[in-house]
Amino acid sequence: MNQIAVLGSTGSIGTSCLDVIGSCRDRMSLAGITAHSRWEMLGRQSETYHPRWAVVSDASLRSTVRREIFSRHTELLFGADSIERVVCEPEIDVVVAGIVGVAGLRGTWAALEAGKRVAIANKETLVLAGPLVMDLAGKTGATLIPVDSEHSAIFQAMLAGRRQDVRRIVLTSSGGPFRGWSAERLNDVTPEMALAHPTWEMGPKITVDSATMMNKALEVIEAKWLFGLQSDQIEVVVHPQSIVHSFVEFVDGSVIAQLSPPDMKLPIQYALTYPERTEGISPRMDWKQAMDLHFEAPDFDAFPALGLGFEVAERGGTSGAVLNAANEAAVDLFLSGKLRFRDIARACRDVLNAHHFAPTPTLDELLQKDRWAREEIQQWKP
Ligand SMILES: NC(=O)c1ccc[n+]([C@@H]2O[C@H](COP(=O)([O-])OP(=O)(O)OC[C@H]3O[C@@H](n4cnc5c(N)ncnc54)[C@H](OP(=O)(O)O)[C@@H]3O)[C@@H](O)[C@H]2O)c1
Repeated sequence: MNQIAVLGSTGSIGTSCLDVIGSCRDRMSLAGITAHSRWEMLGRQSETYHPRWAVVSDASLRSTVRREIFSRHTELLFGADSIERVVCEPEIDVVVAGIVGVAGLRGTWAALEAGKRVAIANKETLVLAGPLVMDLAGKTGATLIPVDSEHSAIFQAMLAGRRQDVRRIVLTSSGGPFRGWSAERLNDVTPEMALAHPTWEMGPKITVDSATMMNKALEVIEAKWLFGLQSDQIEVVVHPQSIVHSFVEFVDGSVIAQLSPPDMKLPIQYALTYPERTEGISPRMDWKQAMDLHFEAPDFDAFPALGLGFEVAERGGTSGAVLNAANEAAVDLFLSGKLRFRDIARACRDVLNAHHFAPTPTLDELLQKDRWAREEIQQWKP
C-alpha cells in the first residue's frame, strides 16, 4: 500500500490526483494534502480521505481556519515549512508535486533529499533548477516520474528502446485557444479569452501559459533536463486534438507515440503505479468513431514565447530561473489587467536580455535571479 502526499491537493492536478487515489484504494492511500489558501476545500478533502496530515501553507490563515471541518484523524499544520516536514515523514512513499510555480520548489526539493519517489507536475522547479534537481535525485536515489502529459508520453515511449538510440523527441501542443491567429489579432486578447482552453481544464497560470505557448517553452526546458537531451534533439508540433501526447524518434526512424483522450488522470495514475499499469478511471479511446489527427508546425512569429524556451534550453545556467520568474510575474500582471497579452513574451525577452548570465549557478544564486526577474517585470514598460 503506497502512502501518498499530494502537494497542491486543491488545484487541478491535485483534485485529479485525489480522484485517482480514491479509485485505487486497494493499492494506495492518501497520507498528506496541502493547500495555500483554499482551506475549506482542504477540509472537505480531509473529511473524505482522512489523511494523516493537512497543511495550509499560508501561515497567516492560522486564526481563520476552522479546525472542526477537518477529519479528527488529520493533524492540521501551517506554513511552508510544514510541507517539507510532511514529505520527509518515513511513512510517505510518493510525493506528488502539484503546487503551481516556483512555490513548488521547496517541497519537491525536500522530497528528493529524502529519497522519495516524486511524481512531478510542477515543471517550474525543473525550469528553474533542472541540473541541480537531477543531480540531487541521482545522489539520494530519489525517482522522478513526470506527470505532465507530454513528458509522461516521452517517458513511456522511451521504454521502447535504449536511451542512446533516441534521435529526437517531439512534444505535441494543442496550440491553445489562439491557434492560427496572427500576431496583430493577438493584441486584443483579454484574460477571459486566454483562460478558455479548448482541450484541457487546468489552473489559471498554466492556462495562460498554454495560450502564449510559454507552457510549451517551459516543457522544452523541462524535457531537456528530465531526459538528459541536447536542445536540438527536441521539437514541437501543434496537434489540436491533444490525443497524441508526444513521441520519440529512434535512430532507425521508428517513431513511438503515446495516445489517449486528453485527461490528466492517466499520466497521474501512471506516475503513481509505474512500472505497473492498473485499471483506471480515465476515458478510453473510441476507435469506432472516425477521427482526424492533425499536425502542423508552430508559429514562432505569433508565439515568440516558444522561441524563448528553445533559447533557454540551449543556454542553461541562470536563464531558466529568469525566464520562469519573469513569466510568472508577467502572467499575474496580465490576469490583473496590468499587462497586455503580447507583452508577456516581450517583457520576458527584455528581462532575459538584461540579466547577468552565470553558467553554473548554485540554488541560492538561482533564487536570487528569480527575485531579481520578478522585480524587473514590475518595472517593465512596453
Ligand atoms: N493542470 C494541469 O492539467 C497540468 C498539466 C501539466 C502540468 N501541470 C503543472 O502542475 C502544476 C499545478 O498546476 P494546476 O493547474 O494544478 O494549478 P492550480 O489549479 O492553480 O493549483 C495550484 C495548487 O498549488 C497551491 N498553491 C498555490 N500557490 C501556492 C504557494 N505559494 N504555496 C503553496 N501552495 C500553493 C494551490 O493552493 P490553493 O488552492 O489554496 O490556492 C493549489 O493547490 C503547475 O506547475 C502546472 O504547470 C498542470
